[in-house]
Amino acid sequence: MATTIRKATMKDLKKIQELNLELFKKEKKEYDSLLDLDWVLGKDGIEYYKNRISKDNSCVLVSIVDGKIVGYLCGELGKTGAYRRLSKVIPAYLETIFILEEFRSKKIGKKLYDKFIEWCKTKNVSKAMLDVSTKNKLAIKFYRKNKFVDYSLTLETDL
Ligand SMILES: CC(C)(COP(=O)(O)OP(=O)(O)OC[C@H]1O[C@@H](n2cnc3c(N)ncnc32)[C@H](O)[C@@H]1OP(=O)(O)O)[C@@H](O)C(=O)NCCC(=O)NCCS
Repeated sequence: MATTIRKATMKDLKKIQELNLELFKKEKKEYDSLLDLDWVLGKDGIEYYKNRISKDNSCVLVSIVDGKIVGYLCGELGKTGAYRRLSKVIPAYLETIFILEEFRSKKIGKKLYDKFIEWCKTKNVSKAMLDVSTKNKLAIKFYRKNKFVDYSLTLETDL
């Protein structure tokens, strides 16, 4: 399947938000009932993606098949020194990645991820990180296949 990966532009904003909403719906249904679906298309969601698309310290990529956007990845640089208080380490966070269901398992996710790593290298990043729901077994499998290893586990309780 011929897939093109390119950096997102402001023209892609709406489509990226639509895909982000699909991701939120999936996560709300399967992993986290507290997720606020209104956030994505609301003022804060628009602002968030406008910043991510336009700023130099973030990276939004889209994957295109037959002229149609079928997936996206969004990531951002962390602050130098924020990672384990190591002053020289520049971290990057892979925040979200989503591929439309019918296009999954065709290595489109891997292509997006590889392009993100290329971008990280241009920014001298030496640690890429992400958070994922422990219930999202398929995504964890995808990340492990792409060389991520388990590091921390976030625990929480309702008070
Ligand atoms: C996770 C995801 C981005 C991977 O993209 P992809 O294009 O399907 O991944 P690739 O084709 O490069 O790699 C496929 C591997 O990823 C894993 N995988 C993860 N989620 C999968 C899914 N929903 N369907 C199929 N494979 C999935 C499998 O190990 C698969 O290997 P296999 O094809 O040998 O079984 C994509 O499946 C997706 O959008 N999932 C739903 C959203 C999500 O969970 N996002 C991550 C949380 S932020």
